[in-house]
Amino acid sequence: MSQVKPLQFAYWVPNVSGGLVISQIEQRTRWDAEYNRELAKIAERAGFDYALTQIRFTAGYGADNQHESVTFSQDLLSHTTKLKVIAALLPGPWNPTLAAKQIATISHLYGPRIAVNIVSGWFRGEFKAIGEPWLDHEERYLRSEEFIRCLRGIWRESSFSFAGDFYRFRDYALKPKPLDPLPEIFQGGSSRAARDMASRVSDWYFTNGNTPQGVRQQVDDIRAKAAVNQHAVKIGLNGFVIARESEQEAQAVLQEIIAKANPDAVKGFQHEVKNAGSASPEGEGNWAKSSFEDLVQYNDGFKTNLIGTPQQIAERIIEQKRAGVDLLLLAFLHFHEEVEFFGREVIPRVHELERQEALNAVTV
Ligand SMILES: Cc1cc2nc3c(=O)[nH]c(=O)nc-3n(C[C@H](O)[C@H](O)[C@H](O)COP(=O)(O)O)c2cc1C
Repeated sequence: MSQVKPLQFAYWVPNVSGGLVISQIEQRTRWDAEYNRELAKIAERAGFDYALTQIRFTAGYGADNQHESVTFSQDLLSHTTKLKVIAALLPGPWNPTLAAKQIATISHLYGPRIAVNIVSGWFRGEFKAIGEPWLDHEERYLRSEEFIRCLRGIWRESSFSFAGDFYRFRDYALKPKPLDPLPEIFQGGSSRAARDMASRVSDWYFTNGNTPQGVRQQVDDIRAKAAVNQHAVKIGLNGFVIARESEQEAQAVLQEIIAKANPDAVKGFQHEVKNAGSASPEGEGNWAKSSFEDLVQYNDGFKTNLIGTPQQIAERIIEQKRAGVDLLLLAFLHFHEEVEFFGREVIPRVHELERQEALNAVTV
């Protein structure tokens, strides 16, 4: 495996209620601390590299209860030893001063296993509810980019100064700095503004579920721009996994999820995200082209098509890797048992296929 760069795996922390699909199908997934602590331990044993906590202040599609991301991430770190935990941060409610300080302290408490996911906001009603001004799409990304530049500057520089449109610092010396390596900076979103930001400042670009062709277009765009900016960025792709002994069984579960979708909640979500998607000037943001069925998994996870037998899923994951994906961010119906099953049945198959690809590359 020496030349193989293995794909990495992350899972969505269900720190919001209702699971990861907007459906009345039975979901043996809970959003409380006890369930999530156990899940983090299972995921760590199963070979997952990262867990991603979500941030919602209000949701409006059935996720009525939401635990806050940084506090929750810290708790998961305290119950694991290897797993890296990515805490979502929304500029606006968070400013870089507080975020840089919080994350530096967490890095000292648990070792350098904390990372952040900068999200830019998609739900106008949420901003209204918490008294945050609703910026237009491009301004949200301008702010997020400044936020990332400030976080990294505060963490790296002994005396940090910055004069932006949203944030200002003068000779600020954060002490202690986070432990090395510095916390990785992820970002979530798929519009042109998101891709441009990734090509300039982020360590990782997280995008909604997609086909290998759809992923490839984004990767080509980001990598071409990143090369001009002399910046390196890795790609994380969302996918909803239904791994079963037979393909028919897996497809039947998908059909049941969609048949039992909560139409009002999905339509409410659709209304909000279509606004958010079309708010990006080129109309290519997350959800801009999503159907009702796609939106039942609220980050388009069915589009990645990780639905079938373990072998089919492993092969499709390798196709996504060929399209440029470095990390799969995964959601499941019944997290405890399915994360364990995925670690046992799918991850080893992915690594085996990676080994074969590397051997083929050497012998060709
Ligand atoms: C993997 C991933 C995770 C996200 N997590 C959150 C989150 O926790 N909270 C949130 O408000 N938005 C979250 N978002 C939404 C994005 O930050 C962004 O607001 C949305 O995708 C619209 O941006 P776009 O127009 O660039 O696609 C996430 C997006 C992705 C792809």
